[in-house]
Amino acid sequence: MRELTVPRVPLLAGPTPLMRLERFSRAIAPNGPTIWMKRDDLTPLAMGGNKLRKLEYLLGEALEQGADTVITLGAVQSNHACQTAAAARRYGLKAVLLLRGPRAVPSTGNLLLDHLFGAHILLDPHPPSDWGTRVAEELRQQGRRPYLIPYGGSNATGALGYVAAGIELACQLEEMALSLDEIVVTSSSGGTQAGLVVAHAAGHLRPPILGISVDPPASELTETVYRLATETARRIDMPSPARHHVRVTDAYVGPGYAQMNEATREAILLIARTEGIITDPVYTGKALSGLVDFGAPWPLGGRPPRALLAHRRPARPLRLSTPVTAPVSRNGSRRHTCGGASHETNLRARAGGDRRGSGRRPQPCPAAGPRVDLCSPHSGRGAG
Ligand SMILES: Cc1ncc(COP(=O)(O)O)c(C=O)c1O
Repeated sequence: MRELTVPRVPLLAGPTPLMRLERFSRAIAPNGPTIWMKRDDLTPLAMGGNKLRKLEYLLGEALEQGADTVITLGAVQSNHACQTAAAARRYGLKAVLLLRGPRAVPSTGNLLLDHLFGAHILLDPHPPSDWGTRVAEELRQQGRRPYLIPYGGSNATGALGYVAAGIELACQLEEMALSLDEIVVTSSSGGTQAGLVVAHAAGHLRPPILGISVDPPASELTETVYRLATETARRIDMPSPARHHVRVTDAYVGPGYAQMNEATREAILLIARTEGIITDPVYTGKALSGLVDFGAPWPLGGRPPRALLAHRRPARPLRLSTPVTAPVSRNGSRRHTCGGASHETNLRARAGGDRRGSGRRPQPCPAAGPRVDLCSPHSGRGAG
């Protein structure tokens, strides 16, 4: 059996909780499906979020290549850039953030945090398409060893974080004897969805994945996710996903990227008032507006989804200027909080599937395909 090991640095404290959203689910539809939320916002650095999973592999590769600086790109309030700055610090790396936005902009939200983490920040309202490679070249000429991370951390290395997340979720589902119909994920640069699609297509994670776009048209995002998923699978010698594994809707983009609409505002209020959970208006809030829409016919047909990956707490106060009355649950609440399986960072997937009983750690997970170890911590410098 072939064994693959990819460099990784640990940035998470263990599996993130999988929470049953009983009151939220009943508020959406009293007799509808129960929604669970994988709390990827509860990760330890900066304000938490999905990018830390990608950064475990991206920084692992950077350190293996001997980098002393990471460069990445994003919008001025980029979650990804902010988490990159925090994670880089934990491993003694400098961070250079190339942010698209006006040169004079107030330091609030993520930008304030970027400064707090001591990142070197360049702002440009109209950046050139090769901004990253240009800055990397300049740094090399100054004797630095830069490692360039793409927008959103979405390449075949970053997406490995969500292959591992898919395996982690499969372990939790098995441990809790829980079966989900569908996994709903917010999708933008595509790496999160691509990693999960690889885990699903390879047979590790049974429920199919649906990406809710917050920006790109469905056709464009489908292509992006398919390409990324194919490259990621190839990288770790897993079976390539088929096109039908990549399912995307752009029905909930609303007026545009980072632009609030009524449906998103209502969804954010609903989950806050039924579950006490804060979500952001740019990403998770939009996906939630899709879930709330279950009351209406589900746009893709078939059974409605039942699990949602949440990704980040907002760094800025929410602006919910229009007062909204959110529907509340008519039922009494029966609420479970499940931390899932063991809180181990090790995730191994073995050929042939290995379904042992519960109560042990770590869990070998349901698998098909080659043995893959996505979890060897990088042995180099830095914090553990
Ligand atoms: C909170 C949050 N959710 C979801 C996403 C989308 O992830 P991806 O860019 O991998 O599609 C992002 C990306 O920035 C994010 O910050």
